[in-house]
Amino acid sequence: MKNIHIAIDGPAGAGKSTIAKRLAQEIHIDYLDTGAMYRALTYHILQLNVDVEDEETIIKEAEKIDIDFNNNCIYLNGINVDIDIRTQKVSNNVSAVSKFARVRELMVDKQREIANGKSVIMDGRDIGTVVLPKAEYKFYLDASIDIRAQRRYEQLDQNMDIEELKRDIANRDKMDQTREVSPLKKADDAIVIDTSNMTIDEVLQTMKSIINEEE
Ligand code: C5P
Repeated sequence: MKNIHIAIDGPAGAGKSTIAKRLAQEIHIDYLDTGAMYRALTYHILQLNVDVEDEETIIKEAEKIDIDFNNNCIYLNGINVDIDIRTQKVSNNVSAVSKFARVRELMVDKQREIANGKSVIMDGRDIGTVVLPKAEYKFYLDASIDIRAQRRYEQLDQNMDIEELKRDIANRDKMDQTREVSPLKKADDAIVIDTSNMTIDEVLQTMKSIINEEE
């Protein structure tokens, strides 16, 4: 079978990574969580107590650190940071760190390098528009803000206030959608799936039927 690239973009909490991971398992191809890379850099910056607006230092650090994946786990300078990158603090600062052009350039180069010569599903914000513009399949997953906040709430084992969670998600989406460099937007040729009233299995079924139809 020839190599295929599948791009999945959309706002926070639309179900991208859950779906991408499952789809990758079912069709036996690799999965890359690009958000985890921006989160790992943000975690690193916060650990150093660097201001998230300090572009110069952030770029210096981004050029220095080593981000790697092994069995879908993410390693920052050789240390597994799967759990550390999922805190609310990282979520609330990641959009600031990922808006810088040079940061994105470094991440996109690495993402393309990983995709080169093999089949891969990538989820993120700019996969269909920038990272893999020639991807065979592009999906844009969306859902209402209420549903997205509810899903996040159920994932987190923290005592979060759902209204606060909703505000945080809306803020992050706004920053991701309005940044100057590769903002979150649907690629012209992406298929939109509104997952608000769909189960994971239904979303998967929809995507698989589109992929199978054209294979
Ligand atoms: O996918 P996830 O919600 O973990 O992404 C965290 C953040 O990383 C996003 O809100 C966005 O700021 C940034 N991101 C990005 N481009 C991507 C993936 C994620 O800017 N391809």
